[in-house]
Order: sequence, then C-alpha cells, then structure tokens
Amino acid sequence: MSCVLGIETSCDETAAAVVANGTEIISNIVASQSVHAEYGGVVPELASRAHVELVVPIITQAVAEASTTLDGLDGIAVTQGPGLIGCLLVGVSVAKSLAYALGLPFVGVNHIEAHIFANFLHSEGLPPPFLCLVASGGHTDLIHVSERCDYAKLGETLDDAAGEALDKAAKLLGLPYPGGPELERLATEGDPDAVSFPRPSVPGFDFSFSGMKTSVYYYLRDLSPEEVERRRADVAASFQEAVVDTLIGRLLEAADHVRVDRLVVAGGVASNLRLREKLGAAASGRGFQFSVPPPSLCTDNAAMVAAAGFERLRRGEAAALGLAAQASMPLLSGERG
Ligand code: KG4
Ligand code: ZN
Repeated sequence: MSCVLGIETSCDETAAAVVANGTEIISNIVASQSVHAEYGGVVPELASRAHVELVVPIITQAVAEASTTLDGLDGIAVTQGPGLIGCLLVGVSVAKSLAYALGLPFVGVNHIEAHIFANFLHSEGLPPPFLCLVASGGHTDLIHVSERCDYAKLGETLDDAAGEALDKAAKLLGLPYPGGPELERLATEGDPDAVSFPRPSVPGFDFSFSGMKTSVYYYLRDLSPEEVERRRADVAASFQEAVVDTLIGRLLEAADHVRVDRLVVAGGVASNLRLREKLGAAASGRGFQFSVPPPSLCTDNAAMVAAAGFERLRRGEAAALGLAAQASMPLLSGERG
C-alpha cells in the first residue's frame, strides 16, 4: 500500500487527506475558513494567515484519523497552482518542509487536474476517455481526458467562472458568502421559469457568464424593494437554471463533437443538485455514461490532490525542493495559466 498525504491551500479551504494507492480515502479533513463571510468574499491576505494557523493542525488530524504517523507516509502531494499566491505558498512550504524532514518524495499538483481526479475516488468513477466539465469559483473548463494526465481543452470561460457568477448573483440577492450553495437553497422555493435570463451564444465551446450576471443586476434594479423581496426565490431559481442550462448545453455539444461515450463533472459547482439531476437525465437520455463525484469531493479538498499526486509520483515526476507555487498554472503545456 502506498499512502500519499495531500495538502490543499489554494483558496479558502485548508485541507489535508491521506489516500492509499491513489483511490482509497483513508482520511479527508477540510476546514472552510469562516473569516471571509463578513466581507462577502475571500480576502486573500486573511486567507493566507488562516492557512498558516490551520495547516499544521489539519495535517496532524488527517494523519491521526488515518491511524498512521508521518513516518507511515510514502509521499506528499500539494496544490502548486492555480490559486491565490499567498495561500499556495503556505501549502507548498509545508509540503517541502515535511518532504525534506521525512526524506519523502513530493509533487506539486495542478488544482484543475486534482478536480478531475476526484472522479477516480468514488466507486462509480469512470475510466478515461471522457469529457470533463470543471466548474468552480475560478474556472469553467471543458477538458477531454484521453487517459490519466493526458488532456485537451475544448473550451473555457471568456470572463466569469460559473461559480463566480453564482456567487455574484447571490450577493445581489443579499445572500451571504459563499453564495453558490445559498442560492441553491433559495432556488428550491422559486420557479425556474419565472424570469427568462439570457443564455449567451458564444462561438465554439467557450462560455461567458458575465452578461448573465449583469442581467440579474438590471432585473433587480428595476423592481421595488417589496417586489425584490417577493421575487428573490424566483430570481435565484431562474438564474441557477440559466447557468445549469448553459453548462449542460455546451457539454453535450462538445461531447457530440469529440464523440466520447462518457461525461464527468467536477469542481464546486458540480455539487449543485439541479445540475447533477438535470445533466444526469440529459446525459442518460442521449446514451452517455455519466459520473459526478459526491458533493464533498466536488468542492475543494485534499483527497483529490493526493489522488492526482499519487499518479504523478507513480510516473516518476517527483519535484525538487526548488518547486515554486504558481498563481497562474496552465493544465496543458503551452497554454497560458
Ligand atoms: O471547486 P471550489 O470549491 O473552489 C474553487 O476551486 O474555486 O468551487 C467553489 C465554487 C464557489 O463559486 C461556490 O459558490 C460554488 O463552487 N458552489 C456551488 C455549490 N457549492 C459550491 N455552486 C452552486 N451550487 C452549490 N451547491
Ligand atoms: Zn477548486
């Protein structure tokens, strides 16, 4: 058995996990930083400081819950990028220190690749080749995975990420941060057909969410405060529907284009129940195999980092101690981050 410790500190979750053989989660600890709620969004400097305070206790807890010790580990994987540079530096520094002190191999993992690897951590996970939609707070990417670690990007967002648009719409509706799950909750009380928000037409397989989010602003601006209050749930449900339909539409178009049989969704937005259900039905209705990790593996966690790191270490890609965190880190060589 080969046990990899994963460390994730790219944004506002401090996470550590122990994963055996790249697939079996032995422990998986995620501390979501609450300090950002009062600011309505992640404050990078506060996030870095919270990581400094939390990272060692969270690693200690992950190792203890795995009923092992640091000496029982075989390797260390850490998110190298993309993300907030101060936050990434905390995880990367700790990973290097542990690797050096314990004499273990370590590897820097791309956060988007880690989201894709969450698919291999649950029993229904699909083997490649598949088409993966990664929809998170920072990214909306359509990636063809021909085999583990072999990717081609078909499309990406030209402006806001899907999660970012949901968070911003939630803020316009007066919901607390992080807005995505709050908006989903409010949407359950509303009518998804009540407001017809635009589904932008973008060439190729790219996305654009910024105009959709602005349309929420204009819609609410023209209502009286009483009407806003009365229509909040309808707006939440209708906006969520517009985002979900856009994601599903593009994924299915791209799937027809590259002729894959299997579809996978990953990233924080993939924990959205409406997306999971509607995409599951649309995919099976058109004869695709469909898989999505459980919600706890869609949002940021370190088990997915350990899974990707295991594969990279297995391929002999251990990093040198000079490894640098990268705020912009392309998934594909030759691509801008
Ligand atoms: O993957 P993730 O945890 O962090 C990033 O890599 O960005 O994704 C966070 C994003 C946030 O925008 C959050 O609002 C969104 O995922 N999100 C959701 C839900 N849970 C998290 N969006 C819609 N419905 C949810 N249930
Ligand atoms: Zn993420």
